[in-house]
Amino acid sequence: MCGIVGAVALRNVVPILLEGLKRLEYRGYDSAGLVVVDDGHLTRVRSTGRVADLTERSATTTGYTGIAHTRWATHGIPSERNAHPHVSKGQIAVVHNGIIENYEVLRSTLTAAGYPFSSDTDTEVIAHLIHRHYARGNSLLVATRAALAELVGAYAIGVIASDCPDQIICARRGSPLLLGVGVAENFIASDVSALLQVTRQIVYLEEGDVVELTHQAYQIYDKQGNQVERAVQTSELSNESVELGLYQHYMQKEIHEQPQALANTLESVCNSQSLVPGIFGAEAAATFADIDSILILACGTSYHAGLVARYWLEDLAGIRCNVEVASEYRYRSSVPNPKQLIVVISQSGETADTQAALNHAKALGQPHTLAICNVPESALVRLSKLRLLTRAGPEIGVASTKAFTTQLAALFLLTLVLAKSRDRLSVRQEQQYLQELRHLPAAAQKVLDLEPLIATLATQFADKQHALFLGRGLHYPIAMEGALKLKEISYIHAEAYPAGELKHGPLALVDKDMPVISIAPNDALLEKLKSNLQEVRARGGELYVFADADTHIHEVDGIHIMQMPEHAGYLSPILHTIPLQLLAYYVALQKGTDVDKPRNLAKSVTVE
Ligand code: F6R
Repeated sequence: MCGIVGAVALRNVVPILLEGLKRLEYRGYDSAGLVVVDDGHLTRVRSTGRVADLTERSATTTGYTGIAHTRWATHGIPSERNAHPHVSKGQIAVVHNGIIENYEVLRSTLTAAGYPFSSDTDTEVIAHLIHRHYARGNSLLVATRAALAELVGAYAIGVIASDCPDQIICARRGSPLLLGVGVAENFIASDVSALLQVTRQIVYLEEGDVVELTHQAYQIYDKQGNQVERAVQTSELSNESVELGLYQHYMQKEIHEQPQALANTLESVCNSQSLVPGIFGAEAAATFADIDSILILACGTSYHAGLVARYWLEDLAGIRCNVEVASEYRYRSSVPNPKQLIVVISQSGETADTQAALNHAKALGQPHTLAICNVPESALVRLSKLRLLTRAGPEIGVASTKAFTTQLAALFLLTLVLAKSRDRLSVRQEQQYLQELRHLPAAAQKVLDLEPLIATLATQFADKQHALFLGRGLHYPIAMEGALKLKEISYIHAEAYPAGELKHGPLALVDKDMPVISIAPNDALLEKLKSNLQEVRARGGELYVFADADTHIHEVDGIHIMQMPEHAGYLSPILHTIPLQLLAYYVALQKGTDVDKPRNLAKSVTVE
């Protein structure tokens, strides 16, 4: 989604802005731009190409104060005229993430007041509004605050003025924004990874904050306009964690990082001898004692993690669990239950629909909330009473991989802790599961050895238009996740079905051109699954089966077997995800798509 970087310094900030944008590329964008104050003028450069193109175009641009942006189109098509920064009367420049809901009314008012519009964006109204207040003799800070008071919607903004050579104003409401504190220079960004090149000293802004920055200092004002202090935190993100290293794509790197990501997420638990509710926060024990059911809310891949967790939670912890897509729940009339634990799952912690769903659940009088999230300072973590952080490290590829498997690991911990608190876990079982969790990173590492085999297999998919994924029980959501991965990065239409549903409709699609990918763990449903696979074979369908070692499904004409190294019991969905990620990755490579930045998609979906 859109990204913001800004810098005010005693040196040329253009290389800093460009490097920052490069590090935000992973969020997904369709145009980019920057503006600097240069000798009393605003110099703006924009491009609909990649940041590399913007870099070429700004080769001769210099300035000590500037703001920059990668745009993911919401209002107005991707084009240079719609790219940020937007400028009013050559004097005020603005970059913006979020959506201004009342922009049409504001646009009419501003047009009538003599402000010509040169884009179709909602952002341009912000630039003109600030200009209108600025032209009345207000300072840039006061003018920005006055303009923000007229906006309805969500925003993170950066503002500069041609006659303020050492000043940036920034503000956030509903979209993330942070400050970077340097030595005689200060920065703003929507994501900490953009600033690691220049500083690790980070101030996370709160809802409604407005900030005035110069190269020497910054002042933060809260939503009431009071000057406030916010803690400076040292970011622990390493530069390497956001760099590609030896890999061809971030997605490939992140698939390979899964053993370590799982080990990091499970570290505190695996080093202890027993499971305690405290890993979810100080209030967890009391909360877990008070709940009678669970509602999981999430989007996309994170929603699939929730679907797996439902099987675990009902089976092992004996607690009723529903899972709902956040964008549906937030607009539906539902029956609130104050004893229900609301679990939100999100890699970014900023997904607008998940955030709105959580707020909706709370507004309905459901106080027990838990966030499972990969970003410690994110909105969802701040809004939830309890939290468990996945420690996957930054995920740059748009297609979620290591975030998903670590979410599953976290949800398994939740299951075990709840099972224990409900007296459904004996000491022996607890020790056995802890041992299985300790073994999980090594087991994931072994699955990665399938990579060359899957790379070869992928060649058979490159010319296919459609694919069907089958799974049963715990592995049905993994089939859904496999289908989502394949469609989002290879653009092959893929659907997932519980294998038992096949003959209720989708079997009609099966012929030699429809590859059918099946997940075949050695679990209680194996024999049923085998019958479903026979139904596919009997119709001439080509089967690709990811089977555990002892399933006795044999490679014959039309059945390709990828043998998984071992069966992992309840943790099997985590391991079975990995070959499906690899399959999607290598099919996308075959098709030559932009693996890390698939068309039309963005990393953090911070708009509805
Ligand atoms: C797919 C993918 C998306 C995200 C979804 C939710 O690979 O990454 O479906 O899972 O946009 O994002 P988070 O988890 O950040 O809330």
